[in-house]
Amino acid sequence: MMNSQEFDRAMMCRCLELARKALGRTAPNPLVGAVIVKDGQIVGEGYHPAAGQPHAEVFALREAGEKARGATIYVSLEPCNHYGRTPPCSEALVAAGVAKVVVGMVDPNPLVGGGGIARLRAAGIEVVVGVEEEACQKLNEAFVHRILYRRPFGILKYAMTVDGKIAATGGHSAWITSLDARSEVHQLRASCDAIVIGGNTLRLDNPHLTSHQTEAHNPLRVVMSRTLDLPETAFLWETTEAPTLVLTEKGANPKFQEYLSKRGVMVEELVSLTPERAMAYFYDKGFLSVLWECGGILAASAIAQGAVQKILAFIAPKIVGGKIAPTPVGDLGFTTMTEALTLERVTWRVIGTDCLMEGYLPTPPSDLCQKNPG
Ligand SMILES: NC(=O)c1ccc[n+]([C@@H]2O[C@H](COP(=O)([O-])OP(=O)(O)OC[C@H]3O[C@@H](n4cnc5c(N)ncnc54)[C@H](OP(=O)(O)O)[C@@H]3O)[C@@H](O)[C@H]2O)c1
Ligand SMILES: [Zn+2]
Repeated sequence: MMNSQEFDRAMMCRCLELARKALGRTAPNPLVGAVIVKDGQIVGEGYHPAAGQPHAEVFALREAGEKARGATIYVSLEPCNHYGRTPPCSEALVAAGVAKVVVGMVDPNPLVGGGGIARLRAAGIEVVVGVEEEACQKLNEAFVHRILYRRPFGILKYAMTVDGKIAATGGHSAWITSLDARSEVHQLRASCDAIVIGGNTLRLDNPHLTSHQTEAHNPLRVVMSRTLDLPETAFLWETTEAPTLVLTEKGANPKFQEYLSKRGVMVEELVSLTPERAMAYFYDKGFLSVLWECGGILAASAIAQGAVQKILAFIAPKIVGGKIAPTPVGDLGFTTMTEALTLERVTWRVIGTDCLMEGYLPTPPSDLCQKNPG
């Protein structure tokens, strides 16, 4: 028999499971799940499927109907208390007569955070905050970052041999890791809003960059290229499965721009083509998370400009050697090991025959990001 704390945690985990059903589809909104429990039984469940759609609580209330009266609702994120595209959930919960609200985490927006909880308490509803908080924060790390820094959350993912190469000397890189690791990457793609590579990666690898799952979401595939010296035939120019955007600089290769547009590829000219400008552009598009799947040159620039928050390094037990074989991160301008960026909250996981390291770059104060000229 579970005690009440264990029961609360189990219900919050169910909320997170529900929330994940919308992975990659909610931007700019968070992933949220809700469960309504009456007399120890689940009587309603819901999750936020996409921006513009009702919030998780609304779906759960609909399913519970009259049973919501006197019930407990579990919700992974603090219920909203403002009129956005939908009326506030706090009011809906009050109107439905729920007795208790268990919240996973407070709304990260400092302007509204705590408001929903205060409204519920003012209506005499018991509110418990912080059940499975770490898991709730992690699920919405991209949303939290977007709110605090006004930029999407950047993830740099790469696969390297155990001797630190992301390709052989000739630029050939398929495949470094095993199938298990690659299917993990496909899931990761499904959870992101955009994937970015540079011109060299397109020229050398001709990647698909799709999630390779029929039901899963496919993010926007983005190529950053200054020269626009790109091949006429590429998998990325086939846009029936997933959309493609080419980011370039003003005036670059107008003929090729026209060619791409005719093929259904979007082209956007930025004043200067840098990772920071690209992230500002993605922020305006409402994106939550951007996956950098580029080579070392662009990766170094993305790290230097604060466009990367998390590193996912797949390490394969292979040795390819090669003095000039590319490595995951190009020049950062450091000359001593003491300058190295030390990753935080590091975890290691074995996936098939490979290893996956996950770690976070140290976070600068939020105002630093705004000042970075890019
Ligand atoms: N194993 C892995 O995980 C993995 C992943 C990706 C790539 N790779 C390998 O990495 C190699 C390519 O590496 P790369 O470093 O040249 O990668 P890249 O991803 O092609 O990035 C460099 C290119 O990005 C474009 N770019 C646009 N704006 C830029 C900016 N502000 N700063 C720098 N570049 C900018 C340029 O394209 P234009 O020249 O078109 O202007 C530049 O040549 C290939 O051998 C590929 O196989 C391996
Ligand atoms: Zn709401």
